Amino acid sequence: MPSPKIDVRTSPLGNPDVVSFFIKGSALPAGVPSEEFDGAPNSTLLLRDRNQRTLLVGLGEKEKIEPDTLRRAAGTAAKQLLKLGAKEIALDLIPFPDHVGPAVEGALLAGYKFEGFGRDPAKKTRGVLGKLQVLVKEHELTNARVQARTAETVTSTVNIIRDIGNLPGNMLTPAILADKAEELAQGRGLTVKVWNERQLKSEGFGGILAVGQGSANPPRLIVIEYRGGGKKDAPIALVGKAVTFDTGGISIKPGAQMDEMKWDKMGGLAVLGTMLAASDLKLPVNLIGLIPSAENMPGPGAYRPGDIITTRDGKTIEVLNTDAEGRIILADAISHARLTYKPSVIVEYSTLTGAVIMALGFQRAGLFTAEEKLREAFMAAGKITGERVWPLPVDEEYKEGVQSEIATVKNIGGREGSACISASFVKTWAEQTPFVHLDIAGTAWTTKPPSYLEGGATGFGVRLTIQVLRAGLPV
Ligand code: BES
Ligand code: ZN
Ligand code: ZN
Repeated sequence: MPSPKIDVRTSPLGNPDVVSFFIKGSALPAGVPSEEFDGAPNSTLLLRDRNQRTLLVGLGEKEKIEPDTLRRAAGTAAKQLLKLGAKEIALDLIPFPDHVGPAVEGALLAGYKFEGFGRDPAKKTRGVLGKLQVLVKEHELTNARVQARTAETVTSTVNIIRDIGNLPGNMLTPAILADKAEELAQGRGLTVKVWNERQLKSEGFGGILAVGQGSANPPRLIVIEYRGGGKKDAPIALVGKAVTFDTGGISIKPGAQMDEMKWDKMGGLAVLGTMLAASDLKLPVNLIGLIPSAENMPGPGAYRPGDIITTRDGKTIEVLNTDAEGRIILADAISHARLTYKPSVIVEYSTLTGAVIMALGFQRAGLFTAEEKLREAFMAAGKITGERVWPLPVDEEYKEGVQSEIATVKNIGGREGSACISASFVKTWAEQTPFVHLDIAGTAWTTKPPSYLEGGATGFGVRLTIQVLRAGLPV
């Protein structure tokens, strides 16, 4: 889907539908009775004056307005106007010149639609935003243009990965994902290396190979490099789980909602999206993105409960449940990051556990790190981007859950505290490198989207990480 054109200006051009943001308690336009509109967050009222439509959208009380308030309000407005057949929308941001970024993001994210594979061409473009105008005062034009451009760059990569994320398992195998990563990296100053099965075998990536060996679609490791920082600066490693479909393997999952496991690749896509956005924004950092990708199937060659696997750095895993596969492919990728690139920090994204959904619901991702400064950086970025996270512990104590008699660790602990036990499992492979684990199982896709998204892949993690990087990662 092409991204909409954005025009930042001082007054509307042509005849766009105008969105006017409204603070609760301020004066209503003439002729609007207060019973009809109270300005509560995301409440709307459509005004018509001859052939001009203006949509009032509430922000709630002035004191409570934060970036996500504007993002949500703009998303609500864009969706509503698109439903009414709007072709071009103008956001009146004259009173909010510092919230141009989030408002544009909200509108652009809301203007995305997964095309799907139906046969009705009209359905594919209905609800898709074509053009967006942003209105600000003359002296804010430069400031607003910078914000709008950044928002456009980031949301367009988010929408690209939402598109890939929504593809089903038969259309997106590890090899296809690798092809897409190579294609998207072209012309962006990124280098991509894709490891195939043979190469993975010769370098001892026993985890990725084990998880992938039950599938007819072989696994891959995708490594993407972006060098925007100093020559000698240690890179930041971003590692993301990309299980293109998770049946559970021999420890097979129940049938209900198993289709949702096509989204078990969203951690890897968060990494891909962040790499694309970081290079488009020319961020002054060095990044290595590592995306281990496999399809977890119960085929004739499948790995089994009881198997012992040796990962890239020689540590061993006793497999007790083949459905706890994400941590196994991550173990290889994290040790590869540590041994080969000596990063200053490793940030890892995965739809790792159902347990994190029990803990935090769909509202927040689990944030696991022992580093206070990193925790604060991600929390702050979460507030700004609306991609909210919440800290959960990864103390050494949780490692007791994965002690094995016959290997370095076993791949499952008990049910209690399972999100934390899984986090401590993954952290084992980072050793002394500062480490952040984001369990995005509850936030990577949605069936109850906020106003600026639709059901399906959310792209969670890209906007969050770009914000952390722009603010300067404290390492
Ligand atoms: N991909 C799943 C985690 C998941 C479950 C994500 C539901 C989103 C929604 C992961 O591979 C998995 O199956 N985890 C198991 C671990 C268990 C076997 C220890 C889980 O969470 O049940
Ligand atoms: Zn699983
Ligand atoms: Zn999984």
